[in-house]
Amino acid sequence: MPGRVILDTDTGVDDALAILLAMRSPELRVEAITGVCGNTPLENCVRNIYLTLSVLDAHETPVVAQGEVRPLVRELAFAGDIHGDDGLGGVTRLVDADGRRAYPDPDQRPSTVHAVDLITDLAGRYPGELILIAVGPLTNVARAVMKDPDRMRGLREIIIMGGAFETGGNVSPVAEFNIHADPHAAQIVCDAGIPLVFVPLDVTRQAFLDAGTIDRFAAAAGTGEAGARAAFVRDCTSSYVAFHRQKRGVNGCFLHDPLAVAVAVREELVTTVPARVDVETAGDLTTGMTVSDLRSDRWGDPNARVCTAVDVQAFTRLFEERVLA
Ligand code: BDR
Ligand code: CA
Repeated sequence: MPGRVILDTDTGVDDALAILLAMRSPELRVEAITGVCGNTPLENCVRNIYLTLSVLDAHETPVVAQGEVRPLVRELAFAGDIHGDDGLGGVTRLVDADGRRAYPDPDQRPSTVHAVDLITDLAGRYPGELILIAVGPLTNVARAVMKDPDRMRGLREIIIMGGAFETGGNVSPVAEFNIHADPHAAQIVCDAGIPLVFVPLDVTRQAFLDAGTIDRFAAAAGTGEAGARAAFVRDCTSSYVAFHRQKRGVNGCFLHDPLAVAVAVREELVTTVPARVDVETAGDLTTGMTVSDLRSDRWGDPNARVCTAVDVQAFTRLFEERVLA
């Protein structure tokens, strides 16, 4: 039986690819997709979730719920330079040969239940079973912990795309975007007593999708769902790839959020070590840093497992077969 998951996302470009991977993985049953502010304002995030789902021929679509519009304490800071103003690399402005929008706004409206309530309801409904995959700032997750810590402790685990442990950050020398965007929320989650798996930049920077591969699959895909999906991946990644080319000197893009989903699908893709993880919330230079010593557990009882290595070939194969082919 597929494992029940919630995907909590600030739907930018790699979040959209993570949604595609989750929805096309028979090992997972996506109970809900919950939006949180992060890469882009919440309104865009919800629109982008539906837009991504619209390229799939899904028999059932998960409940989509809106969550928090701002971090717990910090000021809002979006990532428009990486994910575009619309959060999806500008696809919402693309027009076809007849001048019609290639990706019009979907009609669906999200659930009237708030994401935080939906998360605690589902955690209570499936104790010991439900995995929460968090690929945005941890604001919704922390609010859910504050609201109902007991039911949240019934989660099987939370897989978090976030942190930078033995590598540099991507928004500061030491901090990764999701943790930096809401470090207070991240610390609440670290203290929640829920099994945590961190999928940090240390491994997600190895999960690389080459620009040539994206184009090759898009050119080979016929019409129908596979064609629409491959074209969508090409269209939404094009400026994301340009950002990576200019800023990181690589011709492709990092699949940060899809790797977190892949860990839920096949944990053997990664190696993990137990560790005590905390988050710097007050540093002038180090806000959002994930503080941990992966060499030993002498700094306290482990509250998490941290991914330290990934089978890149096996992950790439999984991603290509399920998202691009
Ligand atoms: C993370 O930050 C966001 O920009 C990406 O979607 C990913 O979740 C990588 O640091
Ligand atoms: Ca994200």
